[in-house]
Amino acid sequence: MVETSSTVGAMFWRIHRFPRYRLISLPTPLERAERLGRELGLELYVKRDDVMELALGGNKARKLEFILGDALAKGCDTLITRGAYHSNHARLTAAAARKAGLEVHLVLTPPGSPEPQGNVLLDKLLGAEIHYTDTYDEADKLMERIAEELKARGRKPYIIPGGGASPHGVLGYAAAALEILQQLSEAGVRPGYIVHAAGTGATQAGLILGLRLLGADVEVVGISVGRGSGEMRERIVGLVRSAARLLGVKLDLDPEEVVVFDDYRFGGYAIITREVVETMKMAARTEALILDPVYTAKAMYGLADLASKGYFEARPVVFLHTGGTPIPFQTAEQIAPFLAEG
Ligand SMILES: Cc1ncc(COP(=O)(O)O)c(C=O)c1O
Repeated sequence: MVETSSTVGAMFWRIHRFPRYRLISLPTPLERAERLGRELGLELYVKRDDVMELALGGNKARKLEFILGDALAKGCDTLITRGAYHSNHARLTAAAARKAGLEVHLVLTPPGSPEPQGNVLLDKLLGAEIHYTDTYDEADKLMERIAEELKARGRKPYIIPGGGASPHGVLGYAAAALEILQQLSEAGVRPGYIVHAAGTGATQAGLILGLRLLGADVEVVGISVGRGSGEMRERIVGLVRSAARLLGVKLDLDPEEVVVFDDYRFGGYAIITREVVETMKMAARTEALILDPVYTAKAMYGLADLASKGYFEARPVVFLHTGGTPIPFQTAEQIAPFLAEG
C-alpha cells in the first residue's frame, strides 16, 4: 500500500522541494511494547522519537530540520524562539542553531528556578542568550524587539513560533507519517491509531497532513496537555491548511474531523499529579520507557484510559514518544513524593 502508491511519490516530491538541514539520523526506532500492550489489552507499538542524537532528541528536531532549511535558504544567521521555562523546543532550537553555526536567542516564560536544571541547564551549556518574560504575549513582543535590535546591528534573525508551529515545522511530521507507515508495513502491521501528546498542535497537524496525502486510514489521536480541545482543533486545522498551501496541495479538513482529547490535563499545563507519576512508573516498569510528566506521561495516561473504555477497535495502536527526556530531572522535586509511595 505504502511503497507503490503514486500519491507517495507525489507527496515526497513536494516535501523534498523544501530545503532541509539534517539534524538527526532517520528512521528513529519503532518497537513492539508487548508487556505494556498486554496490560492495556492492545497490540501496542512505540515510535521512539525520544531516541535521537541531537541534544537528547524529541519531536521538535523533525520540525527544526525544515525550519532551519528555510532559515538558511533565506540567509539568516540567528534563530529566535520562545517557550515555557522547561521548553524542549527551546533546547532543541539552541542545539540546532549550534549545529548549523548560528546564534540563538530564547525567550522563556515565566522565569523559573535560579538553579538551572534539565532543559535550561542544556540551553545554557549550548550558549543560548536567554531572556525571561512573565506572559506569552510579552514573549511574542520581546521576540520582535530582539529581532529589530539584531537587524539594527546588521544581523539576519529568523523568528520561530513557539513549539516550531509553523508551516515548515509541520512538514517534519508529514514526512514522519510516511516513515511510520513504512516501518509498520515492513513488520506486516496495519496500524489503526497514532496517539501522542499535543501542545501547539503542529505534530498532529503534520501527521494528519502526511497520512491524508498518503491516503492512509489511520486515526491520529492527540492528547492535549494544555489547551481545550475546541481551540486545539481550530489550531490544527489552521496548521494543516497552511502547510498544505506551502506544499501546493489542495486539502480540506473540518475541525470535527480532528480527534483531540482534553480530559487528561490533570489541572492544566505542567501540573504534576499522582496519576501522572503512576503512569511514568507503569511505562518504566513494563517497557523501560522513560516518560516525562508534562507531555508524554499525560498522553500515555490518555491512551491507557481510552483503551480501558474500548475506544480502540481491535486495531494496532502506535504511541508516538515525543521526547521530553530532560523534564523529569527538572521536575524531580514534584515527582519525588509519589515515587516514595512505591
Ligand atoms: C515532549 C513533547 N511532547 C509533545 C509536545 C507537543 O508537540 P506539539 O507542540 O507539536 O503539539 C511537545 C512540545 O512542546 C514536547 O516537548
